Amino acid sequence: MPRHTSKEKRTITNGPRIAIAIMAAGKGTRLKSKHPKVLHEIGGKPLLRWVIETAAKIVPAQDVYAIIGFEANRVRQAMADTGCSFIVQEQQHGTGHAIMVGEPALSKYDHILVLSGDTPLIRQEVIERLRDFHLAQKSAMTLLTAEPENPHGYGRILRRKTRGKSMNEVLAIVEQKSLRPGQEKIPEINVGIYGFATKPLFTNIRKLRTANAHGEYYLTDMAELLVKAKERVLALKEGAVAETLGINTRAELARLDARVRAAKVAELLDAGVTIYRPETCVIDSDVIIEADTIVDPFVQVLGRSRIGADCRIQSGTIIVNCVIGAGTIVQPYCVLEDSRVDENVRLGPFSHLRPGNEVSEGAHVGNFVELKKTKLGRGSKANHLTYLGDSVIGERVNIGAGTITCNYDGVHKHQTVIEDGVFVGSDSTLVAPVKLGKGSYVGAASCITDDVPEDALALGRGRQINKLEWARIKRDAIAAAKEASKK
Ligand code: UD1
Ligand code: CA
Repeated sequence: MPRHTSKEKRTITNGPRIAIAIMAAGKGTRLKSKHPKVLHEIGGKPLLRWVIETAAKIVPAQDVYAIIGFEANRVRQAMADTGCSFIVQEQQHGTGHAIMVGEPALSKYDHILVLSGDTPLIRQEVIERLRDFHLAQKSAMTLLTAEPENPHGYGRILRRKTRGKSMNEVLAIVEQKSLRPGQEKIPEINVGIYGFATKPLFTNIRKLRTANAHGEYYLTDMAELLVKAKERVLALKEGAVAETLGINTRAELARLDARVRAAKVAELLDAGVTIYRPETCVIDSDVIIEADTIVDPFVQVLGRSRIGADCRIQSGTIIVNCVIGAGTIVQPYCVLEDSRVDENVRLGPFSHLRPGNEVSEGAHVGNFVELKKTKLGRGSKANHLTYLGDSVIGERVNIGAGTITCNYDGVHKHQTVIEDGVFVGSDSTLVAPVKLGKGSYVGAASCITDDVPEDALALGRGRQINKLEWARIKRDAIAAAKEASKK
């Protein structure tokens, strides 16, 4: 997230002190989840993070207040790096109550913009348009409205009518469960995003009552309360409906996720990335992929992964939080996690990079090879059936098929060091801590428990003995025994 100095942002808002409050304390009962609603993800990012990141483009991050409650500590931890402030609403008695609880922190501002933690795709421009309209009109409360295809479930807007003509002035917001006959058909809904002048807000907020279907303090009731107090309450209608829709159900979560990912793929295609059958690929919103990289069907690129130019990422591969250099080829069915892979590397098929690897330029990692916390030097190769854990491997090293680092003694992890130019024969076990000196050889099927000096050959296996005629004698004895048992 780009950091702006608070000075820059003050000049944009030109005067009045403005905070953004994001209501995010609810449990999200309709998701039927034990996790906080705002930590559910679309595009690989928690709902609340989307809103905080957008809000922090409008005011300095510390003036963004996340109102948290259900599982507050988890939410706070997940958002800590955004630099936003937090208000804790211990018990959730409704959206009006959330803002009441925020009064001590928020009343020092001239205006607050109120957003919902469950409306992730709201755009910066839309919030700014609401802010500018709210300030220019000097209204006490300004609310964003929309006309979705199906208004069911949302609060409806009652506008003041003058000679049959609908004005910007709002009389009240009526929640779904309080609709009177005929009001169900009102097409205009409350998006749940507001501008408030703090003074009239906090002068009147204690007048909210809980005599409604949910027994809660509705922030939406502020419209009618402020109108009664002779304050100005205005509506601003937003055209781009989909971005203003909240998430209340798993179906809505899935729909918005699909939307975000389709947009991401479109953005990458535009930027010169080839993606075949993009509808089968899952690419998180924060992923960066450079031009002329080719992504085959059924690939997932997640988290904060960055893929350089001219790469090829083949089918079935899942990449999580990796940085991949230009020209690297990831063959089918690789699982790569929290690792750095440099330029012109070849991985796969079926390679597994667990967290903490650095694979240097020109290296090869082949099928059924697992790496963990391992540095693989330039041009080094581990092509088949191998486990390398807690290892530091130099340049031009050849790791034979079936090599295993025994890095764990049941209590501690130990390091294996393999210096430049080492050749490890197939089926070797390297019992850490151990070091293979520069240019050394390890004979196939060795069990290496001691350090190997530079340029030495290490053999760590029993000597072979051949017992002549043993097999024939054995076979004859078995045949004779069978014959005897028939009689
Ligand atoms: C709310 C509006 C409704 C609007 C809709 C738009 C009210 C009463 N109704 O309904 O008019 O059409 O949003 O999406 O405001 N929250 C708290 N503390 C609480 C209760 C809720 O922080 O005590 C948070 C929730 O976590 C959520 C947001 O406020 O992020 C909105 O609450 P929610 O229960 O989803 O309201 P809706 O029923 O969607
Ligand atoms: Ca909601």
